[in-house]
Amino acid sequence: MFDLTGKVAVITGASSGLGADAARAYAEQGADVALLARRKEKLEAVCNEIKEKTGRKAIAVQCDVSKEESVKAAVEEVLKQYGKIDILLNDAGVAQGGSVENLTTELWDRSMDINVKGIFLMSKYVIPGMKERKYGRIVNIASVNAIIADKEDTLVRHVYNTSKAAVLGLTKAMAATYARYNITVNALGPGLFESEMTEGTLFKHEGFMKMYNALCPASRPGARGEMNGPILFLSSDACSYVNGQFFVVDGGLSIT
Ligand SMILES: NC(=O)c1ccc[n+]([C@@H]2O[C@H](COP(=O)([O-])OP(=O)(O)OC[C@H]3O[C@@H](n4cnc5c(N)ncnc54)[C@H](O)[C@@H]3O)[C@@H](O)[C@H]2O)c1
Repeated sequence: MFDLTGKVAVITGASSGLGADAARAYAEQGADVALLARRKEKLEAVCNEIKEKTGRKAIAVQCDVSKEESVKAAVEEVLKQYGKIDILLNDAGVAQGGSVENLTTELWDRSMDINVKGIFLMSKYVIPGMKERKYGRIVNIASVNAIIADKEDTLVRHVYNTSKAAVLGLTKAMAATYARYNITVNALGPGLFESEMTEGTLFKHEGFMKMYNALCPASRPGARGEMNGPILFLSSDACSYVNGQFFVVDGGLSIT
């Protein structure tokens, strides 16, 4: 049920963090992978490691998910090389800080462009092939911050909260529309995980870490690889009757 042999998975934001780990996990389950992000060298390093460790095919495709021409060209490149896309993991994202009072409109737009428009554009170009082949698994990485606000005053992220909540709306809408083509669309909400996004910010903020660990029933952030199980589940045949759902992976943070 969880075997991905013969499947092709596209992962955005695959040059680091949760996306790179997911690409490794997909290949370990038998999928050939296409890694998309803006930094080609970093992508190539992850691809080489995947090929060496798993023997699966792995390609690096430069792509800025917020730019339509870039997304169109990247999807065309993947289809040229692999002929199909079975799984789309929309992981690319940025976590802009700031409240509505101090965010500029440029910063607001940039976050919405990457975190929301990026998923729209990737889906726009990937879904037609999935529809034709009557198979697709789309997993959108939202955040636990889609449903809870930041509690630490110095770390509020109003546009991040907004963009991740928008991802849930898009997930449900796409799920309802494309279910008849055997395409499932689900979203995941990570709690705190160490990555490029968080290591220099949240992980360095003693007050935040103390508060997170106190509020989180698991009393700790997520460890490397702990997103992979939920990602693999929603990307496999095991989730054939799970659609339009949002699962948080936060050690119970959001239930307290
Ligand atoms: N780490 C956490 O604690 C956490 C918590 C909740 C949600 N998330 C979400 O998980 C996802 C992955 O984040 P991460 O923690 O691994 O951080 P990360 O910074 O390591 O990864 C983000 C990736 O997105 C890529 N990216 C950014 N803008 C892009 C663009 N315009 N086009 C293409 N790629 C772009 C980056 O290059 C990077 O590879 C994000 O959507 C993030 O919001 C992370």
